[in-house]
Amino acid sequence: MALIQLIYLSSLSDMRLEGEIGKILESSVRHNQEDGVTGMLLYSNGNFLQVLEGETAVVEKTFVRICKDPRHYDIVELIREPIAKRQFSQWSMGYQHLSESYIRSFPQYAPFFKFQANDEAIRAEPGIALELLKEFSVDNR
Ligand SMILES: Cc1cc2nc3c(=O)[nH]c(=O)nc-3n(C[C@H](O)[C@H](O)[C@H](O)COP(=O)(O)O)c2cc1C
Repeated sequence: MALIQLIYLSSLSDMRLEGEIGKILESSVRHNQEDGVTGMLLYSNGNFLQVLEGETAVVEKTFVRICKDPRHYDIVELIREPIAKRQFSQWSMGYQHLSESYIRSFPQYAPFFKFQANDEAIRAEPGIALELLKEFSVDNR
């Protein structure tokens, strides 16, 4: 069974929807558990960065559904590639809410959380997205 990893960025449609994130996670965990999808969702100040991994067709189907969700927009796919082994296998969908001040202490990651202004910088080095997701997937704050 071929596995892929898909990483994308997006923005919350409206800051008043921050309260929806709990519901987003609840349905993510429910679907992903059933579908064998694993990954991590980072949120900071209106921006999402998510990694999804699992069987190719399943991840693609999940991503199509996520893309239709009106609670976020400006979805930028950064990485879609085959993987030999999962890197986020412990989470159906892990989650971290990172404060702006905390992100500021990692200048190399700053463009990801103000991405509308830095789209080019992010597309030039998509591999940093994976590094970032791994860094924050452990609760090391
Ligand atoms: C930023 C973001 C990340 C999401 N991640 C997932 C996910 O990993 N898996 C999933 O099934 N749905 C995810 N969703 C939710 C889907 O868009 C969709 O609302 C949900 O799958 C519908 O399921 P339900 O109607 O059964 O609750 C995400 C939505 C957003 C806005």
